[in-house]
Amino acid sequence: MDRPVERPATKLLRVLDGEATSVPPIWLMRQAGRYLPEYRVLRSKAASFLEFCYSPALAAEATLQPIRRFGFDAAILFSDILVVPDAFGQKVSFESGSGPRLSPIDNREDFRRLRETIDLAHLDPVFETIGIVKSALPADVALIGFCGAPWTVASYMIAGQGTPDQAPARLFAYREPALFQELIDRLVAGSIDYLARQIAAGVELVQIFDSWAGVLPPAEFEHWCLEPIRAVIAGLKVRCPAAKVIAFPRGAGSHLMDFAVRTGADAVSLDTSVDLTWAADRIASDVVLQGNLDPLALVAGGDSLRKSIAGITGTLRGRPYIFNLGHGILPETPITHVEALLRQIRSQA
Ligand code: CP3
Repeated sequence: MDRPVERPATKLLRVLDGEATSVPPIWLMRQAGRYLPEYRVLRSKAASFLEFCYSPALAAEATLQPIRRFGFDAAILFSDILVVPDAFGQKVSFESGSGPRLSPIDNREDFRRLRETIDLAHLDPVFETIGIVKSALPADVALIGFCGAPWTVASYMIAGQGTPDQAPARLFAYREPALFQELIDRLVAGSIDYLARQIAAGVELVQIFDSWAGVLPPAEFEHWCLEPIRAVIAGLKVRCPAAKVIAFPRGAGSHLMDFAVRTGADAVSLDTSVDLTWAADRIASDVVLQGNLDPLALVAGGDSLRKSIAGITGTLRGRPYIFNLGHGILPETPITHVEALLRQIRSQA
């Protein structure tokens, strides 16, 4: 009788289970995108960025492009964190060159116009994309799903755009804490539903991006960053007990130790500013570390790139870790530098 073929655990999942591999698994945040000529050609086939994200054939192809070109250990679903506000009924668009635009939330009236729960049917194209990618992906490459953390998503929903320090959302949270809490609660529930559906559709693990964690003072960090992420992870693990979660609290600094222990994340992704010796000493050893090459070192290349890579791998050797950047890859990154990075990582035995 035929038995179903078991998919062997990918290297990324083995590391998330605590294995310290001699060569770390590697993927790069924003690895699909404008630094790739084939992405720029593909992107020109859709009129808007959101339409691109909601076209399963195009989004699946964008997900697979960096795997074909570089052979990373993981693919990350091609989409954006701002499809979640879109699925709560807030108008979202992307202006070329100036980033995202949403109809801002200034008051109770604006807030009342949002849906109370996420409309997952609106995100069906995302789940369809996952199915297409899954059937095309080599068995040893992990597929990562994602969402934005409640605080970061809320900060775009309030301001209607990215700002230098997300001051509009911070002001809103001080002035209208009960209303802001309600927004965060809706995003926590919506994120659990959304991630659980991504896992049901075929992603093997998820990453939660809290790109604006670092602008919050300690009490607000606790309330708007740490607690909602803890709630998302706890809720997700009730629905999908085997789910693995990487959390990226960019700029969390001295809060990292507490964050790593109390959120229940399986791994934390460290931003460029984190001293890895400090992190390796202080962060609980059952939390896997990911990071944290400076995206600008990858743009620069040469000797400083080689030294930066060697510094990271030297410090984290012997500990389960995932090689990544400290933030997203920059559009001006030369492809030859990404190739050099992979060669250097994989030449370690
Ligand atoms: O990592 C990947 O390759 C998967 C795809 C991905 C995108 N955005 C595609 C994208 C992921 C994981 C994101 C996450 C995201 N989106 C974050 C969190 C990570 C971070 O960088 O801090 C945030 C804050 C956003 C919101 C967002 N989307 C902004 C601020 C912008 C404009 C800035 C920019 O880089 O252009 C986007 C647009 C966006 N999302 C692009 C891509 C490839 C560029 C748009 C284009 O190609 O026309």
